[in-house]
Amino acid sequence: MRLLSSKGRHLVGVDISTTSVKIVDIQRQQGIFHLKAYGIEKLPLGTVVDKLIIDTEAVGDAITRAAKRCQATGSDAATAVTGSAVITKIIDMDAGLSDVEREAQIRLDADQYIPYPLEEVNLDFEVLGPSLVDENLVQVLLAASRSENVDQRVDALTFGGLKTKIMDIESHAIERSFALMVDSLPSLPELVALVDIGHNQTTLYIAKNGEFVYSREQLFGGAQLTEAIQNRYGLSFEEASVNKREIALPDDYYSEILTPFMESTIQQITRSLQFYFSSSQYNSIDHVVLAGGSSAISGLSKLVQQKLGVPVTTANPFINMTVDPYVDSEQLAIDAPSLLAACGLALRSFD
Ligand SMILES: Nc1ncnc2c1ncn2[C@@H]1O[C@H](COP(=O)(O)OP(=O)(O)OP(=O)(O)O)[C@@H](O)[C@H]1O
Ligand SMILES: [Mg+2]
Repeated sequence: MRLLSSKGRHLVGVDISTTSVKIVDIQRQQGIFHLKAYGIEKLPLGTVVDKLIIDTEAVGDAITRAAKRCQATGSDAATAVTGSAVITKIIDMDAGLSDVEREAQIRLDADQYIPYPLEEVNLDFEVLGPSLVDENLVQVLLAASRSENVDQRVDALTFGGLKTKIMDIESHAIERSFALMVDSLPSLPELVALVDIGHNQTTLYIAKNGEFVYSREQLFGGAQLTEAIQNRYGLSFEEASVNKREIALPDDYYSEILTPFMESTIQQITRSLQFYFSSSQYNSIDHVVLAGGSSAISGLSKLVQQKLGVPVTTANPFINMTVDPYVDSEQLAIDAPSLLAACGLALRSFD
């Protein structure tokens, strides 16, 4: 299994994250993308921890259910490794090398780029284009992941009845989804902050003219809200997770739990932005896009807009797609912000 590589065939996108398995099936009809189906299946707490699959069978079962629910087309899939499990580097190499020569050269120099023994990693590369420094060189994207991270994801898909044809990188999949909606943002912003607020992790991506130029992860997310609800009202994790969606919580929930959580979220975003500003020539952004399951909290986008003083949009990678009549459009509006990775993976059918 190589990272990045692909073949022209239909693939469903499978995103395995801390809280769920998400499957997206996209088709192309007369040049227009069409969301045929999607499915989200929750994972029990502890099934995936720190991006590692602890219980392969449980993930496999969730994949089976999600694929069945959305009657996914075929059994070929694209999925992704993520976070610190992946190392990517852009290096300059001689333009005249063949693929075979290039691979041999990379393997020879691998210890410069990859902090693991070569036998333990899956390695892949892709020529991006001319080098910025020398016309005899090309830029090459190098991607490496520990084989065990790759293998456990392939195993989970196999358990779920799917064949892994592409092992991508989560941030690349998200970037692909982002590209689908960037042109729909009001007044074509140059510098956009995409904030993915998940369960354990919040990731800030900075996109310049549509391309990701920076990312930063923080250990913060919906888990903090779930725990606060659990502690205050004596609920289990499952009860708290359901309650935070349906807001069947006492009157003091808004003032004592939700508002402080939203304020911490904004602090986290502000802090990550400060890190970006200090490493770049910029000191402001033009637009914020919120994504991830926790971006569904009502009132959050308005508060972010107020506190940061820039326009805020909630992510919808399907904004320019036609949608199958069988897809529940009200539910899709709620789920779309957390489907960026799965959507970007499904798009690998078309490259
Ligand atoms: N309507 C909602 N209101 C509030 N929180 C929600 C809502 N829907 C989902 N969440 C929360 O969003 C989080 C899950 O989001 P998401 O699917 O993006 O996370 P994840 O990708 O599984 O996690 P991570 O990125 O940390 O691995 C959970 O904490 C969940 O409780
Ligand atoms: Mg996530």
